[in-house]
Amino acid sequence: MKIDILTLFPESFSYLNSSIIKRAQEGGQLEINLVDIRQFSKNKHKKCDDTPFGGGAGMLMTPQPIFDAVKSLQQPNSHIVFPSPSGQTLSPQIAQDLAKKEHLIFICGHYEGIDQRVLDLLNPQEISIGDYVLTGGELPTMVIVDCLSRFIDGVISKESLCEESFSNGSLEYPQYTRPQIFEGLAVPEVLLSGNHAQIAKWREEESKKRTQNRRPDLIKEK
Ligand code: ADE
Repeated sequence: MKIDILTLFPESFSYLNSSIIKRAQEGGQLEINLVDIRQFSKNKHKKCDDTPFGGGAGMLMTPQPIFDAVKSLQQPNSHIVFPSPSGQTLSPQIAQDLAKKEHLIFICGHYEGIDQRVLDLLNPQEISIGDYVLTGGELPTMVIVDCLSRFIDGVISKESLCEESFSNGSLEYPQYTRPQIFEGLAVPEVLLSGNHAQIAKWREEESKKRTQNRRPDLIKEK
């Protein structure tokens, strides 16, 4: 999959060059290209923002640089995403659907937002990462890219996907590694037993308990 990320702040994306997402790029499962929107501005000072018509606080991103940047990259198989608090809330299903696309173009808004006409012309999928407002679309883009990358074949193991929180509508069971005793706290005996049926049963029960205590809404939704 190829992902183009349009932003005024390409330097803020170093997170995507570490750990699992870095490995996915090195392994060829993922190609991430950062595009500086400012390069596309036809303004002689490369300005990309202006005050809102009708008044109001802050600045808006002007439509021309964003529109031209998208048009320079868009192919028949491209799917455009605009992270926005007004979008659908990100879910595992949305991430899984995005992971099936061949080419994604993310538009990162900043300041108070972007001119509505760009959205009307490009008709992107608007996705929110939660009911709170951030200063720009950069962090939400990284959240969405990280989340969808896990669903691309070969990025993480199928087993990890099956056992994680939300995969079957409940939260994941607690996990332990070495040492067997840490600050006086021992690893639950059953996990050392080698009895896989009992371990699976214990994990299922812990997962149920945790979901009931922390997210009873997930159980009611089922
Ligand atoms: N941009 C600013 N806040 C956001 C949010 N909560 N989700 C997605 N994009 C955003």
